[in-house]
This record gives sequence, C-alpha cells and structure tokens, in this order.
Amino acid sequence: MKTKAAVAFEPNKPLEIVELDLAAPRKGEVLVEIVASGVCHTDAYTLDGRNPGGYFPVVLGHEGAGIVREVGGNVHGLKPGDHVIPLYTPECRECDLCLHPKTNLCSALLETQARGVMPDQTSRFSYEGRPVYHYMGCSTFSNFTVVPEIALAKIRKDAPLDKVCYIGCGATTGIGAVIFTMKVEAGASVAVWGLGGIGLNVIQGAKMAGAGRIIGVDINPAKADLATQFGMTDFVNPRDVDDVAGHLREMTGGGLDYTFECIGNVDAMRQAMDACHIGWGESCVIGVDGNEFTGHPYHLLYGRTWKGTMFGGARGRTDVPKIVDWYMDGKIDIDELITRTLPLEKINTAFDLMHQGDGIRSVITY
Ligand code: APR
Ligand code: ZN
Repeated sequence: MKTKAAVAFEPNKPLEIVELDLAAPRKGEVLVEIVASGVCHTDAYTLDGRNPGGYFPVVLGHEGAGIVREVGGNVHGLKPGDHVIPLYTPECRECDLCLHPKTNLCSALLETQARGVMPDQTSRFSYEGRPVYHYMGCSTFSNFTVVPEIALAKIRKDAPLDKVCYIGCGATTGIGAVIFTMKVEAGASVAVWGLGGIGLNVIQGAKMAGAGRIIGVDINPAKADLATQFGMTDFVNPRDVDDVAGHLREMTGGGLDYTFECIGNVDAMRQAMDACHIGWGESCVIGVDGNEFTGHPYHLLYGRTWKGTMFGGARGRTDVPKIVDWYMDGKIDIDELITRTLPLEKINTAFDLMHQGDGIRSVITY
C-alpha cells in the first residue's frame, strides 16, 4: 500500500512529505494507522545527526497513537479496530529482561530496532524502490506504519488519540520515573532540574505520589507558573544563587530524598547528586547529554544512589494502558502540556518551535 509520511532523507535537512510504499505486516507484525504523533527532542537529536545510531533515509517519530488496520500471521492479542500506542521499549514477556522483576527493558527487538529494521532484518518502508528505515521501532511520522505486536500497547477506545499519544514517550518518561523507577513515597522531598515537558511530568508524578515538597530548578523563570499549577511548591533559579546544591540542602534541612535531572546537562546531573541527602538521597538521570558526567565515590559511600530511567521504568504493554486510565480519570493532565496540534504538512514548524523552546509539546495529526 501507499502511505503519506514525513521522511528524513539526510541529517540536518527539513523533513519531506512524500508518498512511501509500505509492505504488508509479516509474522508477528501489525499495520497501524497513526492518528497523532508528538514531536520529541529525541527525534531532533537524530535528525540533527547527533545520534551515532541514526540511519537515513528514515521515518522518525516514536510518540504516536493509532488504530490497528491489519494483522500479520501469528498475532493473537490484537485485531483490526483496536486502539494502540507504539512502544519503543517493547514487552515480549519472554526474554531474560522481561522475566526479571527489576527492569522494564526487553531484549527481543534491541538489535534490529537499533538498525532501523523489523525483526526479520528488513524494512517495510520504501521510496522509489529503495528501503527507508524504521525509527525506534515506531516511525509514527507516517500515516501508516508496521510495528511488531510486542511493541504495541492496547488502550481503551474512548481515549482521545491526539492527547494520549504523549503517553508514548514524554508523559510516561516523567511520571514513570517517579512512580516506577524511583518509587517516591508520600511525604518525600523532591527536586526537579528543568521544567520542560519531562520536568513537568516528573512534578505531576511527584504530586500524585503524595510528595511533600517539590522544588523546581530552571534558568527560565517563565517556566515557574505552569510548574506551580502542576504541583511545584518552591522555585529556584540557578542564576540567583551561588551554589545550587548547597542552597537546596539548606532549604531542606540537609538535602533532598529524590532528585531528577530533566535537562540533559551533565553539570545539572552533578548538582542533582550533590543536593541529595546523605544516607538515603537518590538521584535519577532522565535527560540525555553526549558528554560523560562526574561524581565522587563519597557520594555513594555515604549512602546516596544514582539511577537512570528508560521510558520511566514502565512495562509498555502492562503499564501504558494504566497511564491512559490515569489520564481519563483526571489523575494526570496532558491537555495543558500539548501546546499545539498541527497537520503533518507543518511538521518542520513543529521542530523549529521545539528548537526555540516555544511551548511544551507539538502534536502532529493526519
Ligand atoms: N539549569 C536549569 N535549567 C535549565 C538549564 C540549566 N543549566 N538548561 C536548560 N534548562 C531548562 C530550560 O529552561 C527548559 O525549561 O530545562 C528545560 C528543558 O525543557 P525542554 O527543552 O522542554 O526539554 P524536555 O522535553 O523536558 O526534555 C528534557 O530530556 O528527553 C530528554 O535529553 C532530552 O534534552 C531532553 C531532556
Ligand atoms: Zn521521546
């Protein structure tokens, strides 16, 4: 079949809207009509050529929601008409990682997904007879895409797809980091570096967990209002204080129970560790920075812990439908974080606005 898609033919060039050929889903695969897709920093990271594992030409996009239109052989859990969210972190429920209680990672698609192909080592997309790569196993910047069944979360049909697509990456990453990875307890103190889309979701996750104090740290004071609406109790601008970590330790009588780095800046990662309470403070890295970060052995010897999170520690097929319920029950807010909805033809505008830091999230609809 044919599908309309935004294709990245080479790094650092605008995406081109073209008609691609899309082969039918094979064994274990599903054809999904994408209804909406968020545009995320990770897509830009790859488009900018900074992702060493980036292949071109490629259909980017990994934060989508859509409807199953056809299933390949040996697909038993999904049927045409089901509503789904593609998962860049699949859940096969059979591999060593899936069967281990301590991780949400899955090894089933790691190798092929990283090379931009389906599990049988080939691509379903092609343009003028030449293959076009898949991206993060999702390729949601195409009106139709093929995804393995184990990388699709089936969700309720009354959830608006142009909103819950955000659960395919940003919302789950931030909220999940609090609930699944760090397991923040009621009453705990939390500090969050970076009040963008990820940081705001960490804040609403912390509020949902019943955290006591929730301190936001951002160099842009304009971010404070929305963060306060989401549950932030105190705001610190690093430009107003000499020693951010020292200031936070003073504010909290010795340091934070939990800190989250949501910028992608190694200096902020160090501050977030320095601000943890001796004996039990735990820091979680969420942002991606190409540089190495530093710490001191004493940070750990004195009982602090450094962690990281992928997809918020969520097991996609199990947890994503629950997070959709949280949204439908009003426990979490997504509408406020979706700044604008644009047609596919305007997708390059969505990237420009993200680079300018204009708004929280742009969603593309077909
Ligand atoms: N100190 C404090 N805040 C900072 C700093 C800094 N040195 N540098 C930037 N910020 C703030 C910005 O003002 C902005 O509010 O961090 C926030 C980042 O928000 P977004 O750009 O919206 O990024 P977001 O989508 O939340 O993603 C954060 O996570 O996905 C990963 O690595 C990826 O860079 C991305 C990060
Ligand atoms: Zn993402």
